[in-house]
Amino acid sequence: MASVKLTKVKKVYDNKVVAVHDFDLDIKDKEFVVFVGPSGCGKSTTLRMVAGLEEISDGTIEIDGEVVNDLQPKDRGIAMVFQNYALYPHMTVYDNIAFSLRLQKMPEDQIYERVTNAAEILGITDYLMRKPRALSGGQRQRVAIGRAMVRESKVFLMDEPLSNLDAKLRNQMRAEIILLRQKLNTTFIYVTHDQTEAMTLGDRIVIMKDGYIMQVGTPTEVFERPANLFVAEFIGAPKMNIMKTELLKENGKYYVKPFGVKLPVDGEKGELLAKKNVPAGEILLGARPEHIRLAKPGETSIPVTLEVNEMMGSELHLHVYTEDGTRLIVRVPTIDLTAAERENLVQGHKLNITFEGKVMHFFDEENQTNLIY
Ligand SMILES: Nc1ncnc2c1ncn2[C@@H]1O[C@H](COP(=O)(O)OP(=O)(O)O)[C@@H](O)[C@H]1O
Ligand SMILES: [Mg+2]
Repeated sequence: MASVKLTKVKKVYDNKVVAVHDFDLDIKDKEFVVFVGPSGCGKSTTLRMVAGLEEISDGTIEIDGEVVNDLQPKDRGIAMVFQNYALYPHMTVYDNIAFSLRLQKMPEDQIYERVTNAAEILGITDYLMRKPRALSGGQRQRVAIGRAMVRESKVFLMDEPLSNLDAKLRNQMRAEIILLRQKLNTTFIYVTHDQTEAMTLGDRIVIMKDGYIMQVGTPTEVFERPANLFVAEFIGAPKMNIMKTELLKENGKYYVKPFGVKLPVDGEKGELLAKKNVPAGEILLGARPEHIRLAKPGETSIPVTLEVNEMMGSELHLHVYTEDGTRLIVRVPTIDLTAAERENLVQGHKLNITFEGKVMHFFDEENQTNLIY
């Protein structure tokens, strides 16, 4: 059992900078929770308060139901992996991993058991006698994780552990963290500024901005039902297109009118607008790049001009602008286009696009909250 509960946790630095405001979160035993948000939003501060490396200005933190506000880091049953995993350069990998256990005066046969077991899980058995300088970045990061693993903690805290790795290695290590999590079967709190990492790793994601929680939810929830404009634009790449648009209500049915073109709001989205009785008026309309498509001949559509065509392999990212100069990004699966159609997609080419009504998002212009969730 290792639940973590934060209640009205606050951090004020130097009596003036409020880094974290009234942070409330209930993390279940064995849950993998990711804190994500732009640099400076308070992710590390919150994690460090859980670890006991940073004093709490107000509120309580409980681990397993026990208030730990006044407990030393070593007494909290946590292990932590940082972005800058300083390994001891003069020690072998084995000794690096064994270091904290030796400090605890654990018998050597027991240390051997734990170190070799961790090395096995992490795939670094062959490197145990090497010094850190003879390892790649990814291997060093595994040693740093091994060092935290052998302490058999109740909660595993990771602060941007992959940020120092190159893109390819980061993808590989991300998959390894998923496997590690299955093997360790413990509670994780993972900090990252990378929405892809958050989406792929988290059971639940906590999206933060300026020290406030913007939304807590599963990857599917935050992607499909973003609570506000900030979450909508932060989650998903390329980011959601946002347009100032009129919302119309006629005979109980809703329509939007982006760039003067009237499109029906279909399916569940239309029903939710009706159920909430959202009034007609100016709104911010959100459409993800994959939810805008090239219109078929004769279909009601919006004329645009192509500015940049990014060939991503399996898909194209078309940067287009409308007649009033609004820039949009449209994602088109490469497989949907003939070779001739692809040849045509050069700068200045005229296209017609349309939005899928059943996957539109609607935000209040003033307070930027989602109008239907
Ligand atoms: N030791 C410190 N003293 C003063 N301000 C700090 C300190 N550490 C962080 N901050 C401030 O607190 C805010 C949150 O920082 P941090 O938790 O490191 O953000 P993140 O990890 O999300 O990038 C920032 O405005 C940062 O400048
Ligand atoms: Mg940080």
